[in-house]
Amino acid sequence: TTRGRRAEPGHRFAFMTGDKEGEVVAPSDVKIGEQPLLVYPMDAETGDILASRANLLILMRVPEGDLDPSMEQHAAAGIVAYSAICTHEGCPISGQHENPRMAVCNCHGSTFDVGNNGVVVQGPAVRRLAMLPVTITDGALVVAGKLNGPIGPPA
Ligand code: FES
Repeated sequence: TTRGRRAEPGHRFAFMTGDKEGEVVAPSDVKIGEQPLLVYPMDAETGDILASRANLLILMRVPEGDLDPSMEQHAAAGIVAYSAICTHEGCPISGQHENPRMAVCNCHGSTFDVGNNGVVVQGPAVRRLAMLPVTITDGALVVAGKLNGPIGPPA
């Protein structure tokens, strides 16, 4: 069972939806300026996809020179990962913004800077998104740490 399991170093990412649902995400699947890619962690050894609300993540690619210096060791070729659960009322974050550093929640417009630790640049959300470090190993996009904060709205 995958119940209660969370993203861990060494896990990969699997598409949540679309034509490639369940397939492993390659670095080239994450493109600058596209809407956040909704994914789940995948245990690369067992193939288990850790599909749960708490594990829903977004992947985005920020132009590398545009990353905040604090993010450089947590990103890979500009790719960054965050909890997909909006910290306002918990919608999945899937909206695009003209600035490729920004992820927008389509429910009420909260905007988060994924090039800088997921901080809120426009409310109503008040809490940043939890960030998940990633790396590229042998050409694969891999989880490199743990989510660094609480998921979703404050209790
Ligand atoms: Fe995301 Fe309200 S739930 S802005």
